[in-house]
Amino acid sequence: MSTSQPATPAPAVHAALEALGADPPQVHEGAPHGVWAAAQDCLEFLAEVLVPGMRTLETGCGASTVVFAASECRHTAVFLEVHEGEAVQRWCAQHDIDTTVVDFRAGSSSQVLPALAPGDLDVVMVDGCHGFPFPQLDWYYAAANLVDGGILVVDDTQLPAPYELRRYLEADPRWSRVRVGSQWVAFRRVGSGSLDEEWTSQQFFQPTALRVKALERKARAAVGRLRRRIGG
Ligand SMILES: C[S@@+](CC[C@H](N)C(=O)[O-])C[C@H]1O[C@@H](n2cnc3c(N)ncnc32)[C@H](O)[C@@H]1O
Repeated sequence: MSTSQPATPAPAVHAALEALGADPPQVHEGAPHGVWAAAQDCLEFLAEVLVPGMRTLETGCGASTVVFAASECRHTAVFLEVHEGEAVQRWCAQHDIDTTVVDFRAGSSSQVLPALAPGDLDVVMVDGCHGFPFPQLDWYYAAANLVDGGILVVDDTQLPAPYELRRYLEADPRWSRVRVGSQWVAFRRVGSGSLDEEWTSQQFFQPTALRVKALERKARAAVGRLRRRIGG
């Protein structure tokens, strides 16, 4: 799979994107237009990279779910309220988009994802609960299933917890950044398999505050050695 050449979405996906703008599905209570949709450039990016038959998973539900369904992916959406999935299914039926291969899973991702065995995934989108550590939790359980070269989208990186996840992934050479959007970011996975590991395998991730503390410790130790030498 390559995202270097932006692909033109299939006509059905293009039509779905237009319909989402003109007549948004009523998914999230309190959302100004009925849905807290991912930004247009994020939906367009999904439309670019998705290919029929891809195995995909997102946390959250709404406009992005429509794009996955219209792109004919074997998709799983994990989201909080049953009615969100029902609203997307109704909207898709009204717009001739097949959702029979979409697995709608209502429930907190903290409960649903650990019990889910999605198998290999080509694309994962993290856009569920945005409180710490949910983006990290969603990434840990879902992105572990991404194949080598698979795509990870993290939405709402203007918020603290998604931003922290972005910062970690940018430091990790096993995630190659492929697109920075308006308030989202996409990475290509380099490698595959479980994300279980100790901090010692993550030496690339050294927040500045910790680096400064390590330097201070080294400086204090050096001064101590010098004092002992002078004193002795
Ligand atoms: C910003 S909306 C997702 C928008 C969607 N990507 C779109 O393009 O329309 C956030 C979603 O997170 C889901 N959510 C909130 N808390 C969650 C949790 N603990 N587990 C799973 N999903 C959760 C909500 O159900 C909601 O669908």
